[in-house]
Amino acid sequence: MTKKQTQFAYRSIKPLHNLTKKLLKNKSLQPAFGITLLQLLKDTKAALSFWEHAEKASRKSRLSLNFNKLQIGGGKHYLSGFINLDIFPPADIIWDCRYGLPFPKEQFRFVFSEHFLEHLDFPTSAKKVLQEIYRVLKLNSELLLGVPDGGKVVKAYCQKDKRFLNTLRRRCYNKRKPTAEIYGDLDLINYIFRDQVDNPNYTVHYWAYDEVSLINLLRSVGFRKTEKHKFDPRYCNPKRKFYTLYIKAIK
Ligand SMILES: C[S@@+](CC[C@H](N)C(=O)[O-])C[C@H]1O[C@@H](n2cnc3c(N)ncnc32)[C@H](O)[C@@H]1O
Repeated sequence: MTKKQTQFAYRSIKPLHNLTKKLLKNKSLQPAFGITLLQLLKDTKAALSFWEHAEKASRKSRLSLNFNKLQIGGGKHYLSGFINLDIFPPADIIWDCRYGLPFPKEQFRFVFSEHFLEHLDFPTSAKKVLQEIYRVLKLNSELLLGVPDGGKVVKAYCQKDKRFLNTLRRRCYNKRKPTAEIYGDLDLINYIFRDQVDNPNYTVHYWAYDEVSLINLLRSVGFRKTEKHKFDPRYCNPKRKFYTLYIKAIK
């Protein structure tokens, strides 16, 4: 992308972002419209972050070709020895994956990502990002992908597994600000499947996966060998362990 393109994109998004922010401060705003605006605020914030860093990111990614491990959507769970790519800092490369990945094909020996895929609209962006991961992996190399285990949560709900559901509630939602509103166990399911929290700092959950759906999705973009994997303390975030489904996929 050229400097001119970047400047144009940035300049056209910035006024929209500022206007959205201003409208949200209006106390007489209809709450339902406020929810729509909040989503627009998050999207324009992400787009600004992307365009603000896009040029620098493509320069940096060309410079860091000697790295052969990539983490996508790591947030604060920064992994050293990896290129960490996320839409927000502290990543090495600030980038919105829905635009593709800023790397040449077959650069990486290992790609790791957890609690990221469910933040992408399904199927368009989810499939596009997986296709991109496939493209940047070397042949016979591995993707380790973790998502909230939709199957486990639904099973716990059906079996009234209070121990699991209470742990999920306590660890993931009780400390959140604003605190998650949970009136019954089904609300927990809703948070896993379609987290729409009213906070500009959280990105939405669009979709939930279980073992079969994730494996078949990975196979649909070309991965030839896929299997359930255990929590790997070298990369995985310990706080995600109890409710995460990890799938290893080989190109
Ligand atoms: C729930 S956090 C997970 C962070 C970390 N992987 C962990 O398990 O603690 C989701 C992360 O995905 C990032 N993210 C969401 N959409 C993204 C996108 N389109 N491109 C790049 N990163 C994105 C967010 O900024 C956030 O850091």
